[in-house]
Amino acid sequence: FNVVHAEPSENPRKQMSYPVWADYTDAWSREEASKIALNEDNTLPLLDEMPVDIVTDEVWIWDTWPMTNLDTRTVNYKGYKVIFSLTADRDLEFPQRHWSAEIGYSISRDGKSWDYQGDVFPEEVDTPGLREWAGSTILVGDTVYFYYTASGSEGAGPTDAEYFTQELVVASATISADSDGISFSDWSEHKVIAKADGDMYQTLEQSKAGPIIYGFRDPFVFRNPQDGQVYMLFEGNSPGEEVSCGVDDGSGPAPVVPSPYNRANNSNEANNTLPVSPQAKYYNGNIGLAAAKQDSMEDFELLPPILHANCTNQQLERPHATFSGGLVYLWTISHKFTFSPALQDNGVDGLYGFVGPSIRSDYLPLNGSGLVLANPPQNNEQAYSWYVMPGGFVEAFLDNVQGEFAGTLAPTVKMVTKKHTQTSFVNIFDDPFIK
Ligand code: FRU
Repeated sequence: FNVVHAEPSENPRKQMSYPVWADYTDAWSREEASKIALNEDNTLPLLDEMPVDIVTDEVWIWDTWPMTNLDTRTVNYKGYKVIFSLTADRDLEFPQRHWSAEIGYSISRDGKSWDYQGDVFPEEVDTPGLREWAGSTILVGDTVYFYYTASGSEGAGPTDAEYFTQELVVASATISADSDGISFSDWSEHKVIAKADGDMYQTLEQSKAGPIIYGFRDPFVFRNPQDGQVYMLFEGNSPGEEVSCGVDDGSGPAPVVPSPYNRANNSNEANNTLPVSPQAKYYNGNIGLAAAKQDSMEDFELLPPILHANCTNQQLERPHATFSGGLVYLWTISHKFTFSPALQDNGVDGLYGFVGPSIRSDYLPLNGSGLVLANPPQNNEQAYSWYVMPGGFVEAFLDNVQGEFAGTLAPTVKMVTKKHTQTSFVNIFDDPFIK
């Protein structure tokens, strides 16, 4: 993309839109996040028992996404819905699952009860990492594109930094179906399509000073209805070793990046009411953007992030989007412990959302704070990894039910949006229903 200095434009809510390739990143501010509060519109009920119908007792199941078309809609392929989940051996303690994650898949005719099919990638196919983390799966014609995160470099052990590397990968295959289910054949090689560049996205090396988890992962591929182009969202961190939070920690002023799109309020300098811990500068989560080159599903170019949570939160995980009423709804999940220190008291494990007039724009945090769905106060870790499907159907996995590891899918929740900027959940299904 050539940087053309097209003028930003404004919508009725006074939110500015910027060209997709512009160097403008909106901020989720500390002030907004400090308003996070549980209420009846966002807080899910406490489960008193483990669901009876779990997807499978063979493996733990966590982050899950349906096979969709490029318009983010779930595909019904010859009578089957297909979901992809991170899976690990049930002999492992659930918190250990991340280190041996593999993508498995399950199929369903009614979208409610699921038949687990095992690993999606055949054993003989080389994958570029030690484990597979979250992504998205897109059907175009009879070709399925699998986007995922390759985590850990081959040969690295748990004490090596390279054990935590993260790169975005694509592989493709042909899908077919018969009365026994779905299968994939004609596998491509697995190709790395994006790495952190250190300039727009923090590298693992740059993250070393920080105390907690680094991210460059969770690719979500979609076609933007506003320009018809294919893009990818992903979880990243702001570049460099630290960000500026406006506290005098001796590190000097934040660098000013010359750009026609820089505005005073897209930094996240401290406000006067909220204490800023010296650690806040390491909390630098962002939502990254890449554009497909010339309609390719396999060649992407990194663009500047669309939203950052500098000084607010370290992880904006599994970012994804839905589109309605000419607006972009941007969704992400985050944990209590990844909010920067002064914000951890009211921050929760939850689904967070933002609405804007276009992909690169001034987003408003939904409900003022960004919080859309939260666990009950008695158990902040009941469910996680919420994923919003068009129409407000939200799936997730159960993490911990009444003190026991769950590792299965959560009952799907239906949510509505009011006046474009507010949400409330209105129904909980009996099962992990994929719309
Ligand atoms: C969210 C998450 C993802 C990552 C996966 C690793 O639950 O942290 O960001 O891809 O889990 O297990």
